[in-house]
Amino acid sequence: MALWGGRFSADTNKDVAEFTESVSFDKRLYKYDIAGSKAHAAMLASCRIIPEKTAKAICSELDRILKKIEDGSFKFTTELEDIHMHIESALIKALGDEGARVHTARSRNDQVCLDIRLYLRDEIKSISSGIKAFQKTLVKKAKANINVIMPGFTHLQHAQPVLFAHHLLAYVEMLKRDKTRMLDCLKRINVLPLGSGALAGTTLPINRETVRKILKFDSVSGNSMDSVADRDFACEFLSDLAIFAMHISRFSEDIILWSSQEFNFIELSDAFCTGSSLMPQKKNPDVAEISRGKTARVYGDLMALLTLCKGLPMTYNRDLQEDKEPLFDAIDTVNKILSVFPPMIATMELNKKRMLEAASDPALMATDLAEKLVEKGVPFRTAHHKVGSLVKWCRENKRSLNKLNLKEMKLSIPEASEDFLKLFSPESSVSKREVYGGTGPGQVKKQIELWLKKL
Ligand code: ARG
Repeated sequence: MALWGGRFSADTNKDVAEFTESVSFDKRLYKYDIAGSKAHAAMLASCRIIPEKTAKAICSELDRILKKIEDGSFKFTTELEDIHMHIESALIKALGDEGARVHTARSRNDQVCLDIRLYLRDEIKSISSGIKAFQKTLVKKAKANINVIMPGFTHLQHAQPVLFAHHLLAYVEMLKRDKTRMLDCLKRINVLPLGSGALAGTTLPINRETVRKILKFDSVSGNSMDSVADRDFACEFLSDLAIFAMHISRFSEDIILWSSQEFNFIELSDAFCTGSSLMPQKKNPDVAEISRGKTARVYGDLMALLTLCKGLPMTYNRDLQEDKEPLFDAIDTVNKILSVFPPMIATMELNKKRMLEAASDPALMATDLAEKLVEKGVPFRTAHHKVGSLVKWCRENKRSLNKLNLKEMKLSIPEASEDFLKLFSPESSVSKREVYGGTGPGQVKKQIELWLKKL
């Protein structure tokens, strides 16, 4: 008979037990469940709701249970529904009546919220330090390749030359936002729900502040009904993970394009690619492709959780048991991405010659020419038009912008002087973009130094 079986006269149908169990997936919360129970028992004793001796016995037995779970000798069975029931049953089995006191002034409804919050607190810390390590990898790669120039793209068309380092630092910025978003979410997570009972609090004189201190929460939840019904913090964290995955999918797309024969900007290490079972010549960028694919899965997890919570009446409903799998899946997926993506970037080789060549099309410096005219006092729109007609003239006469003599340039741009002819190298184009946040080497070096200090 289950721990809640008092009012029941028949055992649960076997299929129903299988259908309603959650221990197969919520057992990963064991550490947090035990920490929560220990804090709860200590508080119950300090409030004289249970004897001090009982609380001590409960805590040492909980430590034994923890060890047993960790060394694999603890037995899990679907008959005991969830991790909370497993631990409580083991406690009662070992301590009898003393163990049966742990669930005083507590419901699994507030208990499960506590466990998830404690678990997410740890996960956020480890994922954000994984993100930080990834940022470091990118900054180091940027520093090691500070002189590499490549075309920057808009609409996937060559736009203007940029430093490869600048491109990598763009991802460092995205990752910074991902990390700070997660750390911000931590504020909403770090609120103690325990003490809310099933939904309405308890008649017993507990002290929630004591538990808050033991478990190091920032504050205590102010409404017991909200506390047991709320999964906003999980939705929020999942959406943070979804945005992170979206960034990874964009980075993946860059890697996939760059490693294609058409671009040929990079060569991924063999250790991060696989071959085709049919075409012997193939080397595929699988890590990037699968990371892009896994993004779909993280979005799915977010959608599952949002849909789960949609329209649920107050307060706790058993539907909420389904919150864990999408949450765990998204966390596992992001951790897997973080284990393969950074080393893939660290080990990729750059085809610097090819990148520079692609950035050397003088058409990419057309804006530089227009801006030179602005320096000479021409309004930008007029300058844009003049350069446009020069580009057109070049196309019609099969000439290249960087091969023109002054006379030819003056046909469209009467203001031109000798120095106008020297604008067409990607190096000079990049070097002039020393505006704060621009791709000028001075600026990019400064950013690299700033990041190295921060990371
Ligand atoms: N396994 C449940 C969950 O994950 C724990 C709470 C169950 N509460 C209840 N009254 N049946 O949500």
